[in-house]
Amino acid sequence: MSGPLGRLSTGVAVTGWGVALPDTAVTNAELEARLDTSDRWITERTGIRERRIGGTTGQLAAAAARQALTAADATPASVDLLVVATSTPDQQLPATASTVQHTLGLRCGAFDVNAACSGFVYALVAGTGMSMAGARRVLVVGADVMSRVTDQDDRSTAVLFGDGAGAVVLDAVEGPGQLLGWDLGSDGSLRHLLQADIGGYVQMEGKEVFRRAVRVMVESSEMALQRAGLTIDDVDLLVPHQANTRIITAACERLGIPMERAAMVLHRTGNTSAASIPLALGDAVDAGRVAKGDIVLLVGFGAGMTWASAVLRWGQ
Ligand code: UT7
Repeated sequence: MSGPLGRLSTGVAVTGWGVALPDTAVTNAELEARLDTSDRWITERTGIRERRIGGTTGQLAAAAARQALTAADATPASVDLLVVATSTPDQQLPATASTVQHTLGLRCGAFDVNAACSGFVYALVAGTGMSMAGARRVLVVGADVMSRVTDQDDRSTAVLFGDGAGAVVLDAVEGPGQLLGWDLGSDGSLRHLLQADIGGYVQMEGKEVFRRAVRVMVESSEMALQRAGLTIDDVDLLVPHQANTRIITAACERLGIPMERAAMVLHRTGNTSAASIPLALGDAVDAGRVAKGDIVLLVGFGAGMTWASAVLRWGQ
């Protein structure tokens, strides 16, 4: 990093992205064989058909980050800061970012952010702020190994979660850059709705999380759009947190955006927490769904309860 306030810039551009999923897929049929559940229940109630399981958070994060660096044509030495969003760090300490830094041969500051499923958008906004404070190139990763904190014998959570990682490279640019508006929020009085004790498994009041998720997705999206001076009609691609198709459908209806404009990977990844938004973003970009100048709205929610939105103008 060039030093605090070394070279002030005014915005960032996403110049590379990457994703990583474990090789092992667990299908609904496999869960049906060992739990009191059914492919039909899981598909109808969540939209999930399979999830990928395996690896460590550090391994998945490093794999996605390496791809993002290659796509940005960026050397490890050129990275000024690494931020890893995760709520399933490999160790209590050090931060998983230290593992990723070493694996990739980076020589910069590295830290973790824990805002659960909202973590990637939190890290993206934090990374943008650090860029404005002088870090010219920031690597932002969202990675989680939810299978490690999920009781595989509990049908209420085992069918939902998966493992994965996604990453972006943010480069400082002159001018306003791509991040046009953002909203970060948290209501700690609701932290009991979704939690895991240290060494324990995820406990969730699913119905209550569902209800509040739809509400905060809509409110947070509208706030970020308003700050960007845009409306929902301007949004070309919505990248929602991938927790439940019914949550995304309900949020799209209330926001007034067709479901066809939402990026979706949930059916094959399950809920990958902080990895879900960069996985869905990377998938949509790789599929050619995003053109230069398009408005992309990222919106996440999760344990905390936290929520986070970011409005990007792609490719500027
Ligand atoms: O990323 C973090 C944020 N988390 C979320 O966004 C999750 C939000 N919540 C949800 O997505 C949904 O609430 C769930 C998918 C977790 C549950 O769906 P639901 O429609 O809210 O179901 P429910 O919890 O009300 O359960 C309905 C029934 C219950 O049986 P009874 O009491 O009606 O007899 C459950 O015991 O479905 C039963 N059930 C299952 N049945 C088959 C719960 N899990 C399962 C299962 N297979 N896996």
